[in-house]
Amino acid sequence: MKIYKADFITSGVNPEHYPEPMLPEVALAGRSNVGKSSFINKLVQRKALARTSSKPGKTQTLNFFNINDEVMFVDVPGYGYAKVSKTEREAWGKMMEKYFTQREILKGVVQLVDIRHDPSADDVTMYDFLKYYDLPVIVVATKLDKIKKSQRDKHIAAIKRKLQFDGQDTLIPFSSETGEGVDAAWEAIYRLL
Ligand code: GTP
Ligand code: MG
Repeated sequence: MKIYKADFITSGVNPEHYPEPMLPEVALAGRSNVGKSSFINKLVQRKALARTSSKPGKTQTLNFFNINDEVMFVDVPGYGYAKVSKTEREAWGKMMEKYFTQREILKGVVQLVDIRHDPSADDVTMYDFLKYYDLPVIVVATKLDKIKKSQRDKHIAAIKRKLQFDGQDTLIPFSSETGEGVDAAWEAIYRLL
């Protein structure tokens, strides 16, 4: 995959702030700190296009990135970050619901989960929500470099079980440290477009 363009377009919270629909969109959803921004950077071979941080809650708005004039990646704020007020959580829910239900150009969602742990209740809620709205999901199991090779199958099976994984969806083990899973992720994204 040759990346000749990876441009930040704009940030927005409400539909009036979204960019004009111009490219098929793929959104990145997942718990805070799971590695959404790192995933984008790894796929587009840029170190800091999407801002990453070891502190959860770095991404606060929907951030739109034009990749190769072919696909718009939409980095979204993570969920499940404990130090968030009820008001903030509700605002986040409204922002996500509007985007996922109203954005016609949205082709599918990459939902990231941490391969080391069973999906959280929030992960399951997000997956159910996406399925309810008939959005194709690519589940990317991040931080693959942090588990032993011999443990991979066990962790993948646990994730599928907990999510009640839909056989139509794709699951990709991934590491933004080693780049493992990059090609499989691009292939799955292309199939959505
Ligand atoms: P929010 O914007 O807060 O929702 O977080 P995010 O999901 O965008 O996570 P981000 O990409 O900022 O990554 C969080 C932390 O995890 C950073 O310290 C990353 O370096 C680290 N990280 C992300 N992916 C991987 C991975 O595949 N392997 C390892 N070892 N670390 C990772
Ligand atoms: Mg982020």
